[in-house]
Amino acid sequence: MGQLSGKVAIITGAAQGMGEAHARRFVAEGARVALTDVNTERGQALADELGHAARFWTHDVSNLADWVRVVAEVAEAFGTPTVLVNNAGIIGPVETTVEISEESYLQVIAINQHSQFYGMKTVIPYMQRAGGGSIVNISSSAGMIAVVGSPNLAYVASKFASRGMTKHAAVQYGPDGIRVNSVHPGYIMTPMMAAAMGENGAGAGAGVPLRRPADPDEVTSMVLFLASDGASYVTGTELVVDGGLLAG
Ligand SMILES: NC(=O)c1ccc[n+]([C@@H]2O[C@H](COP(=O)([O-])OP(=O)(O)OC[C@H]3O[C@@H](n4cnc5c(N)ncnc54)[C@H](O)[C@@H]3O)[C@@H](O)[C@H]2O)c1
Repeated sequence: MGQLSGKVAIITGAAQGMGEAHARRFVAEGARVALTDVNTERGQALADELGHAARFWTHDVSNLADWVRVVAEVAEAFGTPTVLVNNAGIIGPVETTVEISEESYLQVIAINQHSQFYGMKTVIPYMQRAGGGSIVNISSSAGMIAVVGSPNLAYVASKFASRGMTKHAAVQYGPDGIRVNSVHPGYIMTPMMAAAMGENGAGAGAGVPLRRPADPDEVTSMVLFLASDGASYVTGTELVVDGGLLAG
């Protein structure tokens, strides 16, 4: 028996990076996993590799109608979803508040923040019918403080919002047995990090007490815990996975 046996999970942004790592481990732990992403080619290839317990949906998380379609199709294909990992996100341009355009600001907010609202809004009724569930909202260390080197104001705003929406939903839906928690990664070696830091993100660990960035799988361990029944009394909390970055 895996830690997620019998569960149906939706993971957004699952074509690469942390979402990919979560999808791989969730399948290994016995879940049926809906991988969703705008990158159809990579997401489909990964789902094919993971076998019958995985399926891919092309899905723009910033579009509510897309959420309604995808979640209904997942329920039809796999059964009622009881785990949602709101992982998809972008960093947007590395620009100051004066420099960033309104268009870029709104795009980051739509993909990082509106997506988590749409995901919870769409999936929670299914979880209520199932008698409970677990939602994991991926925020960031930038959702705890405005870390030096945060790419822009919109990214920080969206990640603080993720943390706030998590707490609101946890309070509102606790009585339905739905747990909602946020995860706050620090520097994690993914394609996003490589793009943000240059040189494949090699220098990312310098200011971290553990003196290294993390492998995506080290975040997966925390997401897996929150998704599993092992976290049955854990809701409305913040799980920081940052090698000690915020301690200093
Ligand atoms: N890498 C880090 O160090 C780090 C640190 C803190 C938080 N995070 C957060 O973790 C999450 C995953 O980051 P990552 O580093 O794996 O990023 P990544 O860029 O490697 O992967 C993100 C995935 O999201 C997908 N995506 C982008 N826009 C989308 C949309 N509109 N709809 C659906 N999918 C979309 C991309 O196609 C990609 O597959 C993000 O929310 C990110 O903000 C990352």
